[in-house]
Amino acid sequence: MSKREKVWYEDPNLRNLYVKSASNAMKGYHLPITTPKTVFTGTNSLTDFTMHLGAYLNEDEKRVLIIVDKDLRKFGDRVAKFLKEKRDIDSRIFDEVLPEVPKSKINKAIDLCKEFDPKVFLAIGGGSAIDMSKLILLYYEKPEINVNQMMPPSYVGLRKKVHILAAIPTTSGTGAEGSFNAMILDDTREPHSKVAVALYEFCPDYVILHSDFVKTMPQWLTMGTGMDALAHAAGAYVLIGSSPFTDAMNIAGIEMILQYLPRAVKRGNDMEAREKMQMASYLAGIGFINTSAAGIEHAMGHSLGAVFHIHHGITVGIFLAPSIAYQAKVTDRFLKLAEIFAVELSEKPRHEVITELAHMSNEEALHSLLSNLRKFMDMVGAPKSISELEMPKIEKSEFESKLDHLSELAWIDNTSLYSSRPFTPENVKRVIKVAWDNKIEDLIDLYKK
Ligand SMILES: [Fe+2]
Repeated sequence: MSKREKVWYEDPNLRNLYVKSASNAMKGYHLPITTPKTVFTGTNSLTDFTMHLGAYLNEDEKRVLIIVDKDLRKFGDRVAKFLKEKRDIDSRIFDEVLPEVPKSKINKAIDLCKEFDPKVFLAIGGGSAIDMSKLILLYYEKPEINVNQMMPPSYVGLRKKVHILAAIPTTSGTGAEGSFNAMILDDTREPHSKVAVALYEFCPDYVILHSDFVKTMPQWLTMGTGMDALAHAAGAYVLIGSSPFTDAMNIAGIEMILQYLPRAVKRGNDMEAREKMQMASYLAGIGFINTSAAGIEHAMGHSLGAVFHIHHGITVGIFLAPSIAYQAKVTDRFLKLAEIFAVELSEKPRHEVITELAHMSNEEALHSLLSNLRKFMDMVGAPKSISELEMPKIEKSEFESKLDHLSELAWIDNTSLYSSRPFTPENVKRVIKVAWDNKIEDLIDLYKK
């Protein structure tokens, strides 16, 4: 593999350099805080956004490229009709979004851009559609870019041809609508591999949180994406890059998820729960991305998902408990999580719960947090460990035979760079092993040594 084909975080020297320089910057909160300009919320959000576009775009600029998953094409058609009727804005629809964004598919969208000259990109979908819109923007405006060498923080000068990047999420969990990273499947190199690209200019300018776009989400997807949002907020909260800004977003996100995800899973037409989960997912999205590219539960979750083909939210949910327990040895930030979980999940009055926690040792508080996390995962029907997985069912012998490979993939993942506690290859293996059944005593052991 040539140097150009290698992704920067696959190079051990660059990884070390990045961890050293980034951790100093993060400790001093010397990082930019990047968020969308406006989040339109509620049942009037699409109207508000359309009025904004109508006022902002010149008459000869009223062209929107809608990027949407094929099976959600009806949403694209509905929005295109709405834009035309309300403000005479023309649209084209690109619906060839795939679960993993392949580099080769992006060229097709770029050909459409060259012909149509859109001034707005509007992504409608889950993480893949929103990630794809970011990558189309990048390759349309900067065709020569080599994403492998883009070590964050980087700026390349986007929005010269397309003025606005906007997103309507159709799931509540990925946070892609408020984040400035994107995953691309590089199918031009062998073997094909995923590359994480972080670029501040990827952050959408406008977000439309309208519950009509999430109300038909099936139960398993509501649970899976909700667990992803919880992993973003709680996983990021214990990282070294946390700041008062990210704490505010992550804590509010966790509280809302604990309150409303069980309701959204139980009754899909509970519109209050759907709306709150949209907001929680957005808050967790800007909370985690401004902390880092997500916590180490994502490094291990990506690895397990890639080897056994399991939904992202399920895998990061399974690794949330071991990630928090492992880092608890070096940071007491888990104590705040213990408080939030205890307050939200207990029937007792808030002040009684807080008084009880105040009398606990750190180990007891961690035990309380881990028990409450298990309780919550049972409430929403999320598998708590690898051994509990049903789809697919994994044999212990198969898991053990792939442990080395799982550990290698997790260690090379860009999200393992941000651990509060150094995430050495030996420790990665230890933590993954515990996740087989996530027994509380094994988790407490991660904290002790
Ligand atoms: Fe995630």
